[in-house]
Amino acid sequence: MTRAFPHAIDPFTIRPARPADLAACAEIQHVALDGYLAPFGQQLVGWQPEAMIRLFEHLLATDPARFVVAERAAVPVGFASAWVRGGLWFLAFLFVLPAEQGRGLGTRLLDELLPRPDERAPDGEGLILAVATDSLQPISNALYGHYGMVPRMPVFLMKGAVRSPDAFPPLPPDVAVTPFASIDDATAQPPGMRLLADVTSALDREVLGFVRPADHRFLAADRHGYLVTDEDGEPLGYGYVRDDGRIGPVAAMWPGLVPAIIGLLVRSTSPAGGSFSLLVPGAAGDAFVACLAAGLRLTEAPTLMAWDRPFADFSRYTPINNAIP
Ligand SMILES: CC(C)(COP(=O)(O)OP(=O)(O)OC[C@H]1O[C@@H](n2cnc3c(N)ncnc32)[C@H](O)[C@@H]1OP(=O)(O)O)[C@@H](O)C(=O)NCCC(=O)NCCS
Repeated sequence: MTRAFPHAIDPFTIRPARPADLAACAEIQHVALDGYLAPFGQQLVGWQPEAMIRLFEHLLATDPARFVVAERAAVPVGFASAWVRGGLWFLAFLFVLPAEQGRGLGTRLLDELLPRPDERAPDGEGLILAVATDSLQPISNALYGHYGMVPRMPVFLMKGAVRSPDAFPPLPPDVAVTPFASIDDATAQPPGMRLLADVTSALDREVLGFVRPADHRFLAADRHGYLVTDEDGEPLGYGYVRDDGRIGPVAAMWPGLVPAIIGLLVRSTSPAGGSFSLLVPGAAGDAFVACLAAGLRLTEAPTLMAWDRPFADFSRYTPINNAIP
């Protein structure tokens, strides 16, 4: 991307982000989130700036030209980050300090990151635009809607102890479950098993419509991945779980396999507090029903997945987080 940075848009300056900006970006996000939750009598709980900065670092590494900071008098007051995988452009973050909101800065940051007309999908089509927004936030929902990114599907955070693991259906007979870690280890690679990047890419292409090996490397840093294959070694699905009980992403060849893979992940992990959490799209009805039956609870208003044209089959998928579905 060759944009003329920095350039002044009085009184703000928008410039590419640098690694040294990321802690300030996390603080802007924290203050902006608290600012819009306050009128609802809520505040942010469990804020983990280190985890957020790690996610920022990943996005800055994969899409350096799509991470920008807005400054006023050399002080960061807003930031935005987007990524492109295949034919999808996704807005990961857009935050402006409360004192600076409502003056056009959010719009300017978004305009900086939107794809140029010559940025095309591999098939030559224009990039699909998408974002996850908070259902409580009319400003961002309206802002994104102007660009065709209309909120079309709720995504629910489900949390809690799994009291009834049998609510998750069993995996089909004759499938094999292979930890990603053993696939990475060439000596333990099952005969005929394709490389991890190949199998995850095949499933991502089928379920999400794009591939993202760099995101799988990011996931592997702190999550355990499992691959489910049929008797011929063909990939049927994958799922990740973190030691703290965070589940996702899960991708599967058919919707009913998603809750079965969630069950596998639940049984493979004993989080310290006994609590699991995952994001479940409204379209993944089988997973939603099974998670409720297992004992997980809805704890907050859903986020809304917004897009100008559909991407992904969310009946067969649970996302990583709201910045990278
Ligand atoms: C969302 C956010 C980034 C927008 O930045 P901003 O600088 O305040 O936004 P702008 O001033 O550029 O524009 C907001 C637009 O929304 C419009 N808008 C606001 N409330 C609206 C409503 N209820 N209905 C329709 N449009 C609305 C405004 O009129 C404005 O458009 P206009 O300039 O054409 O009139 C900022 O408010 C923010 O950081 N909020 C808290 C954190 C957050 O919600 N981030 C997004 C997470 S999904």
